[in-house]
Amino acid sequence: MKLWAGRFGKEEDSRVNDFNSSISFDARMYRQDIKGSIAHATMLGKTGIISQEDVKAIIAGLNGILQDLETGSLEFDPQAEDIHMFIEATLTQRIGDAGKRLHTARSRNDQVAVDLRLYLRDEIEGLIPTVKELIGVLCNKAKEHCATIMPGYTHLQRAQPITFGHHLMAYAQMFLRDLDRLSCTKKRMNQMPLGSGALAGTTYPIDRELTCELLGFEKPCANSLDGVSDRDFCIDLASDLSILMMHLSRFSEEIIAWCSWEFKFIELDDAFATGSSIMPQKKNPDVAELVRGKASRVYGDLMGLLSFMKGLPLAYNKDMQEDKEAIFDALDTAKLCLVTFIPMLDTMRVLQENMRAAAAKGFINATDCADYLTKKGVPFRDAYKITGTLVAQCIQEGKTLETLELDQYQAQCSVFGEDVFEAISLETCVNGRTSLGGPAPASVLRQVEEVLSELNSL
Ligand code: ARG
Repeated sequence: MKLWAGRFGKEEDSRVNDFNSSISFDARMYRQDIKGSIAHATMLGKTGIISQEDVKAIIAGLNGILQDLETGSLEFDPQAEDIHMFIEATLTQRIGDAGKRLHTARSRNDQVAVDLRLYLRDEIEGLIPTVKELIGVLCNKAKEHCATIMPGYTHLQRAQPITFGHHLMAYAQMFLRDLDRLSCTKKRMNQMPLGSGALAGTTYPIDRELTCELLGFEKPCANSLDGVSDRDFCIDLASDLSILMMHLSRFSEEIIAWCSWEFKFIELDDAFATGSSIMPQKKNPDVAELVRGKASRVYGDLMGLLSFMKGLPLAYNKDMQEDKEAIFDALDTAKLCLVTFIPMLDTMRVLQENMRAAAAKGFINATDCADYLTKKGVPFRDAYKITGTLVAQCIQEGKTLETLELDQYQAQCSVFGEDVFEAISLETCVNGRTSLGGPAPASVLRQVEEVLSELNSL
């Protein structure tokens, strides 16, 4: 029999029950539901809305349910409509009338809103150290490879020389911003909806400040309609996770390319690669590919949330029950990706010689060659053109700027001297890029220090 059976003349059709039920996916919020109910009951007692005796019985009963769920001696009833109904019904079964008083001055609408905020707040708190760990691994590797020369790319064409450490620190910056976004989302969702009731508050003399304080929220939601019908905190989080996954996916895409024989810049540890069922030679970067694939899944969760919310009139509508599977899936997916990606990154082997060899091809020091002339007084546009002509000559003769003869340089421009070879060596090109935020080893080390100190202050 349903808790709300009074109004109805018939049992609910079992298909409607199955269709309507959310316990299969909202059961995971049982701790938060119990915590919210304990705070609500405490407030009802303090304000004299229910007796202290009832409050005691309710809190003892809820703690008993919590313990039994944790130990497995109480199982979720798959027939229950949702986690809120299940816990309330179990409480009443166990303690009688006091259990029936718990829902005074409360609706499932403010109850689910508080549970979900508490749950997501906890999840964000759990996610932050994982993202920090990822940034830590990036910093370690960047330090180790602060002087490892590799080609930097634009349009996936070799462009200018950089260091591998610099490349890694670019990702560290992205993940730092992801951390910041997660903290802002947590702060924004940290408002307490209990007391909004079904939609229109309540006539009972409730104390929202008290429940707010008991549950560690910053302040009570200021409008009861908004308190029960806003789900933008889910959308905020799904958006943060989508951006995080986009970063992980770009990184994965690079790792996949770097593992190929065409690049061979890195080799994944055997424990983080997979083989083929038919081709004995294969070593596949499945983890990186799955991360790339799962990014789309998180985007799908975000799109789902945005789509089902966009047409809903105030206040609560049952469509909103769809929020949970979407945001839980986004969280589970992002966490799963992170915990697999981090050790894969940490254990990968960097093939420095191959990076260096790739950097030696593709004329990535051409800008430096032009800069050499500019620093000797040739206007940049002229220097650019002269260097372009030299590159064309190299391509025709199968040479590089390093192997072109000095008289060939001088035939294009008399300003060239013997020191051009020093000026265009990859080491000079990289070491000279000391501009703030640049790829020189000293700059990479500075970036690492700054990121680590920012991490510590978070
Ligand atoms: N299981 C519901 C949800 O997740 C709880 C709120 C139900 N409220 C209601 N008025 N039917 O949205």
